[in-house]
Amino acid sequence: MKWVYIEDIHKYEGQEVELRGWLHNKRSSGRIKFLMIRDGTGFIQGVAAEKDTDDEGFALINDLNQEASIVVRGSVHREQRAPTGYELSVRSIEAIQNKEGYPISPKSHGVDFLLGNRHLWVRSSKQWAVLRIRAEVVRSVQEYLWEKGFLQLDAPIFTPAACEGTTTLFEVNYFGEPVYLSQSGQLYSEATALAFSRVYCFGPTFRAEKSKTRRHLTEFWQIEPEMAYAHLEDAMELAEGMVGNAIHRVLEKRKEELRTLDRDTTLLESTITPFPRIRYEEAVRRVNELGESMEYGDDFGAPQETVLAMSFDTPFMITHFPIDVKAFYMRKDSETGDTLSFDLLAPEGYGEIVGGGEREFDIKELEKSIESRELPMEAFQWYLDLRRFGSVPHAGFGLGIERLVAWICGIKHIRETIPFPRMLGRVYP
Ligand code: 4AD
Ligand code: MG
Repeated sequence: MKWVYIEDIHKYEGQEVELRGWLHNKRSSGRIKFLMIRDGTGFIQGVAAEKDTDDEGFALINDLNQEASIVVRGSVHREQRAPTGYELSVRSIEAIQNKEGYPISPKSHGVDFLLGNRHLWVRSSKQWAVLRIRAEVVRSVQEYLWEKGFLQLDAPIFTPAACEGTTTLFEVNYFGEPVYLSQSGQLYSEATALAFSRVYCFGPTFRAEKSKTRRHLTEFWQIEPEMAYAHLEDAMELAEGMVGNAIHRVLEKRKEELRTLDRDTTLLESTITPFPRIRYEEAVRRVNELGESMEYGDDFGAPQETVLAMSFDTPFMITHFPIDVKAFYMRKDSETGDTLSFDLLAPEGYGEIVGGGEREFDIKELEKSIESRELPMEAFQWYLDLRRFGSVPHAGFGLGIERLVAWICGIKHIRETIPFPRMLGRVYP
């Protein structure tokens, strides 16, 4: 009999198939037993009736425990009321392994317990849905860049210097020398952009975020495109195109997962590019109007970002931040003295998902900036070489995968958007 995956079950209506999976849960009603079977690609209800199921299999069902690994054979039927539209009439069933005591029962558990059992929690239907959406997002952003001619050239994780400020560096002992886990691959993408024109790096980045928030992990994944001969506007257009494309891709390919999450997709469906843009001053003014205080020159804290992001019903961008709230490499606008920078924020209170802009390509300005921030000039000599030889205007950004996935899924905390989250106080499992 043919082994098939639940996600392909629509192709087998009326046929006998074999499913290899696990028992999600079960219930019985008189002489009929209902099994919720999962196989990693989806969930389907198996219906075992005494008259259709072989005796051995029918008896086994009584003893099956949650998460027993099972091989089930039966015929596929359309069933309007089933979430996937199909149901399996069970002919036979065997258990590969069947043990009681699975720690995550259908009753609700506290989040610490669930995070401590993350290796099992990923089997739950909501977690399954979020992580399937994550995989779709990861694929869509990479394909988007490939189609536009970008090459993937990844950045190192061990780095000699800070990219995004020295307060969140993780120091590692590298054969007796202190080095740091990468906060961003950007500086290396700048080097490869001058060698390959359009590039991106994709990988984990690390920040010693010492506070617990719903937006911060200590290990998170960024996709960071960088373009030679490009300006702020080019980076903004690329970012909005990439985010818009990811949303439409998930809406098209991951409907069942969004349904599993009870995600209201109205705003996602109505997302169109270009996204609204406001300058930093305007954003500060709005935050104050919305009842949170901040002054010109301050960075947006969590409450400010939340109210502003609540006031939009589409992704939007904030541009031209003052130099003091942005990193040393940002290019200054010669007229206003602000930076040629932007953040892309998600609505519904989610806030920043992308940060980027144009890079300082004048060596004098860049040296001044490194000096004034008291960064180690020695460690940046290779980076300064990029301005010594063939320097050109260039721009790029970093998109935080977990932030984008959290918004698309409509989940509160980004810890559920990565298979094994790393946060303050959590490195197990
Ligand atoms: O805005 P950030 O700090 O920008 C950079 O790192 C640039 N060097 C990127 C570039 O231009 N190539 O970080 C970029 C994005 C943020 O917008 C956010 O989505 C995500 O990375 N991010 C985090 N996600 C989860 N946890 C954290 N602690 C994060 N810090 C940043
Ligand atoms: Mg940022």
